[in-house]
Amino acid sequence: MADRPLRWGILGTGGIAGAFAADLRLTGSGVAVAVGSRGQAAADRFADAFGIARRHPSYESLAADPDVDVVYVATPHPMHRDNAVLALRAGKHVLVEKPFTMNAAEARDVAGEARRRGLFAMEAMWTRFLPHTAVIRGWLAEGALGDIVTVTADHGQWFARDPRSRLFAPELGGGALLDLGVYPVSFASMVLGPPGRIVSLSDPAFTGVDAQTSMLFGYDSGAQAVLTCTLRAKSPTTAAITGTDARIEVGGGFYAPATVTLIPRAGAPLRVESAHEGRGLRHQADEVARRLAAGDRESPLMPLDETIAIMETMDTVLAQARVPG
Ligand SMILES: NC(=O)c1ccc[n+]([C@@H]2O[C@H](COP(=O)([O-])OP(=O)(O)OC[C@H]3O[C@@H](n4cnc5c(N)ncnc54)[C@H](OP(=O)(O)O)[C@@H]3O)[C@@H](O)[C@H]2O)c1
Repeated sequence: MADRPLRWGILGTGGIAGAFAADLRLTGSGVAVAVGSRGQAAADRFADAFGIARRHPSYESLAADPDVDVVYVATPHPMHRDNAVLALRAGKHVLVEKPFTMNAAEARDVAGEARRRGLFAMEAMWTRFLPHTAVIRGWLAEGALGDIVTVTADHGQWFARDPRSRLFAPELGGGALLDLGVYPVSFASMVLGPPGRIVSLSDPAFTGVDAQTSMLFGYDSGAQAVLTCTLRAKSPTTAAITGTDARIEVGGGFYAPATVTLIPRAGAPLRVESAHEGRGLRHQADEVARRLAAGDRESPLMPLDETIAIMETMDTVLAQARVPG
């Protein structure tokens, strides 16, 4: 498999599918060879736009394409589980958009299917594979922060009030937490692991999905995470990890290619600018190719058990949102 570029099949033809197909062209590790849509016209349109040879009028037909090595699932989140399982049952590896699924039970279904079949599966939490995240991981690994005290992160974007929008429609998995909050939750998970205590507050949108959710996580070490997300306004979208010896500040948007600064308690800050090409989605595609070439079935940077734990955390947050205040 390492002898030739990985052959990607794109499942779905919406916004992120196009962004991923465009970024895939920037990498030598993979190439989009096929696209599948619920309709031929959309498949043709997408294939023409991105120079893709094979265009399928159904997801089933894409999954069955013998020229596809790995399927990128880019549908709304309520479809992720079934679309991923469809591809896995056809013998394809999968990269599944964030959030991986609607809840932890569905995430376990996908992970179980992949493991039983000996196939690769990963959540497309692209932030994990960005160069600035590698810098953060390096600083954490060398103990530059001392003991970690707090993690803070916010993700707010403004969306027009449209009941048909994926962001607001309950049947399309709408809501701030699953779409935007997954980034702060995943960031905190990368730094501190799963929280021992979860306290959250949500406010509903006009459709009943969560429009704004704020979270406090507590950890056995005494560390805390303070996280928030909203569909109502564009927030700073920054993140910070504060330790006894130093802190790391991640510029906005922390989830995309960003500048990171290590600020010691005493002494000069160290700032690392992010050099990147494209939107930043290529790095996750490179990771899939690298792992498959090595014969791995998961990425240690975004393992399935951590994805499941992140979904469990978000299950708890959403359960608290449903409790009348
Ligand atoms: N990584 C990122 O930065 C990022 C950014 C945005 C979104 N996402 C994630 O990617 C996923 C898709 O988001 P998106 O913004 O690309 O959505 P979108 O623009 O609405 O596209 C979703 C696509 O899914 C397919 N689909 C299947 N069933 C559908 C249904 N019942 N209603 C609507 N579309 C349906 C459609 O493709 P066909 O008509 O061709 O079948 C549609 O084009 C979400 O899970 C989201 O969280 C990630």
